[in-house]
Amino acid sequence: MTAKNLDEIVALAKRRGFIFQSGEIYGGLQGVYDYGPLGVELKNNLKAAWWQSNVYERDDMVGLDTAILSHRAVFQYSGHEDTFADMMVDCRECKHRWRVDHLKNGKCEHCGSDNLTEPRAFNMMFKTRMGPVEDQDVFAYLRPETAQGIFTQFKNIVDATSMKLPFGVAQIGKAFRNEITPRNFIFRVREFEQMEIEFFVKPGEDDTWHEKWVEWRYEWWKQQGLSETRLKLLTQPTEELAHYAKKTVDILYEYPHGFEELEGIANRTDYDLGSHTRSQSDFNLSAKVKPNTDSTAKLAILDLQSNKFIVPYVIEPSAGVDRGVLAVLNEAYTEEVLGEGKSRVVLKLKPHLAPVKVAVVPLARNNPAIVEKAQEIRKILQRLGLGRISYEDTGNIGKSYRRHDEIGTPLCITVDFDTVTEGPQYHTVTLRDRDTMQQTRLPIEQLSAYVREVLF
Ligand code: GAP
Repeated sequence: MTAKNLDEIVALAKRRGFIFQSGEIYGGLQGVYDYGPLGVELKNNLKAAWWQSNVYERDDMVGLDTAILSHRAVFQYSGHEDTFADMMVDCRECKHRWRVDHLKNGKCEHCGSDNLTEPRAFNMMFKTRMGPVEDQDVFAYLRPETAQGIFTQFKNIVDATSMKLPFGVAQIGKAFRNEITPRNFIFRVREFEQMEIEFFVKPGEDDTWHEKWVEWRYEWWKQQGLSETRLKLLTQPTEELAHYAKKTVDILYEYPHGFEELEGIANRTDYDLGSHTRSQSDFNLSAKVKPNTDSTAKLAILDLQSNKFIVPYVIEPSAGVDRGVLAVLNEAYTEEVLGEGKSRVVLKLKPHLAPVKVAVVPLARNNPAIVEKAQEIRKILQRLGLGRISYEDTGNIGKSYRRHDEIGTPLCITVDFDTVTEGPQYHTVTLRDRDTMQQTRLPIEQLSAYVREVLF
């Protein structure tokens, strides 16, 4: 099961503290969202899973964290100044502004009029002023993709790490786009996060590496709990390719508003490294590369076979963190009928993504022995380093279970009178499984091993 519509996810996200509208108390800032106490945990868990699989589990990858504020020349030579634009129209009747490819039947979505202006290009990059001088020409861009930080640091990375082809650089960070029509909650926003890999390969080996990365990335999303029936691969038609791409395969996910791009895996050829490179004539660069008169570096690497410096090709898997969060929330959202007119909402998140891993619940909050034991268990489990373990003393066990079902906590541990009373159940606790709601009894000394093994 998934959510029936986006509104269900938006409501849960607000109710339980996953995601809030930014600037809400002033009417909200369109296309900008804040992550709440649980949202930040979920988002961090998704990013950690990505880093684990793409950086730590591979010998051919290193990480990077480059600045958001970007030198203007970076986005001049990357081609974004000329081409990073969407076509927009204005409604002459109600003055609303629309992205042309988002319009239905060529009519204004707000008032239904077809009295629209001619389409014109709108560059989506945000500019900001830098330094104390108020000069039109002194500005920096807020990066619209994290990728350029990797390309422009290519030489420093190679010099510092002695990486050999093929190898990749991974980065997670914020990107900004002045979207004409932000929409669908955190799906299309103006400030978002990307998880990007630039994987550098020898020219000629790019097609094979492209195929491998499409397969790896598709599998990874399945491991995050996305069902194959809601995932699709789409090779972008040539006329829709970004200015830098030779080929792009998108991983689409079926969001409540339909199948849309979750991640794109592009073959960017030598376009970026070539376009940022000095003395371009030293290399056999492909045709689209932009001429460069400003760069001070050759973004090239020694090819051990030919013993010549070459500008590598690059395969780029680029995923949106926020779109990932929305997809896993949608996938996990389940409404179950329990009988007797009762139902529950449960987030069936993969345990490694769950914002709270375990809730420890004292059955009676004013019984000192129970409270002490529950707090002791919480501390022991917290030290396992698996993520957040919460202590839940609402005093109402049913309410605690409902809350933890809704936020996706895989396991609740209840400390009751039997736990602290000599007898057959002494020093045992009740474990309640989120998905099956089954309850079992386990000795406290087995808890750490159980939590480690069953949940991770
Ligand atoms: N470096 C390549 C690049 O930026 P892209 O297809 O424009 O390619 C990559 O963006 C990913 O970033 C997308 O697949 C999507 O998940 C995410 N993304 C792009 N624009 C977004 C937006 N306005 N809001 C949320 N996520 C966005």
